Amino acid sequence: MAADSASGLEAAKGASKDSSSTGLPILQAQALGMRFAAPEGQISLFENLDFSINAGDSLAILGTSGSGKSTLLGLLAGLDLPSTGTVVMDSHDLNTLNEDERAVLRAGRVGFVFQAFHLLPGLTALENVMLPAELAGDSAARNKAAEALGRVGLSDRLLHYPAQLSGGEQQRVALARAFISEPQILFADEPTGNLDHKTGDQIIDLLFALNRDHNTTLIVVTHDQAVASRCARVRYLRNGVLTAEAG
Ligand SMILES: Nc1ncnc2c1ncn2[C@@H]1O[C@H](COP(=O)(O)OP(=O)(O)O)[C@@H](O)[C@H]1O
Ligand SMILES: [Mg+2]
Repeated sequence: MAADSASGLEAAKGASKDSSSTGLPILQAQALGMRFAAPEGQISLFENLDFSINAGDSLAILGTSGSGKSTLLGLLAGLDLPSTGTVVMDSHDLNTLNEDERAVLRAGRVGFVFQAFHLLPGLTALENVMLPAELAGDSAARNKAAEALGRVGLSDRLLHYPAQLSGGEQQRVALARAFISEPQILFADEPTGNLDHKTGDQIIDLLFALNRDHNTTLIVVTHDQAVASRCARVRYLRNGVLTAEAG
């Protein structure tokens, strides 16, 4: 097992970023099942969910509250493992990697904007954004973080702590943190949910600029039709299945 883990880690580190320009699937899931033990009994969110997205594509996922959108995003990003089924990211079967190996795989490929932001309260906006780049050993982390915060309109909030920022500003810090390392795949869970229209539009413009200019694959959970309409594909999560049909 140790040998397998070590080779998994090497594979995760060593893989090239080739798939960004090929238009081949960068992320696939097969027969995903996800169950939770809950006080009321077992909750089954998906039994047999299939998914595929090509590098550089953009996808909106819609669905009612509680349909499992955030859970699905976490599985596709390799933050959690499914109860059954497989997720293959950039040719790596996540089931064959342990937690550390999945973190290494994600570090070079995945940006994630959480619905609840998940900013570290003891770090300033600048420190929150520079953390992933710093952990990756990037000596330009501070400058890149300042630039990323500028792109989301927060140049005058660099030294604020999360508690000193509005919900919309925290959302923008979380977005800057997600794209600072130029991920191949950017997951965003309701990225405009806390923003007014104007700020929301700016954030969406930024997401699609990343998609266009860096070929960043976008997977966005949203209730916002304006966001969905700008994605190349829209899917609805209903009764544990992704479908192309609304309602
Ligand atoms: N760790 C967990 N344990 C138990 N139930 C969970 C867990 N995570 C999510 N759920 C349940 O799964 C359902 C879907 O949650 P979620 O993925 O957050 O939905 P959505 O993002 O579509 O609103 C909810 O009913 C939620 O309570
Ligand atoms: Mg959610």
